[in-house]
Amino acid sequence: MLKPNKLAKNNFLSSLDLSTYEVLHILDLANNFKNKKLNIDLGNKVLGLIFDKSSTRTRVSFQVAMNRLGGTTIDLNPSTSQIGRGEPIKDTARVLSRYCDVIAIRTFDHLDLEEYAKWSTKPVINALTDLEHPCQALADFLTIKEEFLDFKDVVLTFIGDGNNVANSLILCGALLGVEVRIACPKGYEPNSLVIDKAYEIYKNKNMLKITNDLDTAVLGANVLYTDVWSSMGEENQKDEKEKVFNGFTIDSDLVNKADKDAIILHCLPAYRSKEITDEIFESHKSRIFDQAENRLHAQQALLSCIIQ
Ligand code: CP
Ligand code: NVA
Repeated sequence: MLKPNKLAKNNFLSSLDLSTYEVLHILDLANNFKNKKLNIDLGNKVLGLIFDKSSTRTRVSFQVAMNRLGGTTIDLNPSTSQIGRGEPIKDTARVLSRYCDVIAIRTFDHLDLEEYAKWSTKPVINALTDLEHPCQALADFLTIKEEFLDFKDVVLTFIGDGNNVANSLILCGALLGVEVRIACPKGYEPNSLVIDKAYEIYKNKNMLKITNDLDTAVLGANVLYTDVWSSMGEENQKDEKEKVFNGFTIDSDLVNKADKDAIILHCLPAYRSKEITDEIFESHKSRIFDQAENRLHAQQALLSCIIQ
């Protein structure tokens, strides 16, 4: 029977904290958890959740995943804990390390996440920062693997803002050798350090394309993926971005330019008629709710490797 292996790194702050082998192992475990072929009781471990931003999927999937592993979660709302009053991260991290076995953090600045990890004596998981959303990428590639069985010859085209979700797709895609194309308006490209790191990993440099030309990016793609144009924390840019991103909506015309068997993904929450039309969101090509479900299985697998 497949057993969770301990990961080489203690923390999961970035997609690059995992090796290719470890990503594939987590996806295998996730598949086994999903198909009820694997049942692991970690025995009363505690996951602390610190969410400086809103969340439905990440919060609930972590809670259910811990529950299924025989553990519990403590949900720390910054506004009702001392975190919101400005207690230094280094103090909060050392205190929580005495109570919790693992901590998942959703915050704005990636440096704050790294500060938690520096002071915590327990593993820290990135539950989304402005830079990355690596847990999301695990569920996304699990969904892609379910559809195409392996990653060979899969072309993943992300359409929209070069944001945290795009950054993690690029990095995890590079580890898995998936061809990733990002189509975004000029000035909204993904983080340049992320792009550089991905090119270092890819053996073939043509496997990652960042372009402002939507049609080229979509041609023959097997997966069309989008996310909101304005992420949490960018509410003041909403009006401007809606103008700049005009034309970057996944609609039926765009889907028709992709491979005929292409699937549609969205990390959610979605703004219909902005980044995706309601018709495409609800279409048979959409795997969006499988993808959301897979957050649970992927994180259960991740936790089973991290808590050892
Ligand atoms: N996709 C995702 O992270 O959703 P939540 O913001 O609801 O957690
Ligand atoms: N890019 C989005 C993802 C939400 C899950 C955000 O950061 O708000």
